[in-house]
Amino acid sequence: MRRRLAAALMAASAATMADEAAVSFKTQIQPILDAQCVFCHVTGAENGGLNLGRRVARASLLAVSTETPMPRVTPGAPEQSYLIHKLRGTQLAAGGSGNRMPMNDPPRPLDDGQLDLILRWINAGAPDN
Ligand code: HEC
Repeated sequence: MRRRLAAALMAASAATMADEAAVSFKTQIQPILDAQCVFCHVTGAENGGLNLGRRVARASLLAVSTETPMPRVTPGAPEQSYLIHKLRGTQLAAGGSGNRMPMNDPPRPLDDGQLDLILRWINAGAPDN
């Protein structure tokens, strides 16, 4: 009995760890970009040179920003990721410029769950998964 309980607890904590690690760029991050960003950031020729279309979004996010010397995404370091500053509205304090993203009038920021997914993906090393 005790052994079975211990096994169940270990399985539960393994599941929690897997959840932490398992944010998928393709199935969890890209759909947020598709719904809220792509219509302004699709060619990459305008709007900060950022292209969030499928296949190119991750590479474009890992590039250096056009608004500040900070990369848009620094794997493992959300505070060094200009994307996070743009999504939180702290881009001016981070040495950048322009509006909080997604740019809407009236403003409609990402919800906490969406921001949390993006933070977890960056913390996990911004994998191409
Ligand atoms: C209505 C159009 C519009 C929408 C929607 C929009 N953006 Fe933008 N974005 C812009 C424009 C215009 C700029 C450049 C001017 C500025 O920063 O305000 C920009 C700039 C950026 C930059 C800075 C580019 C750089 O070089 O670092 C990031 C990062 C960004 N957007 C991310 C996003 C994300 C992520 C979303 C969706 C959650 C989004 N944007 C939605 C228009 C938009």
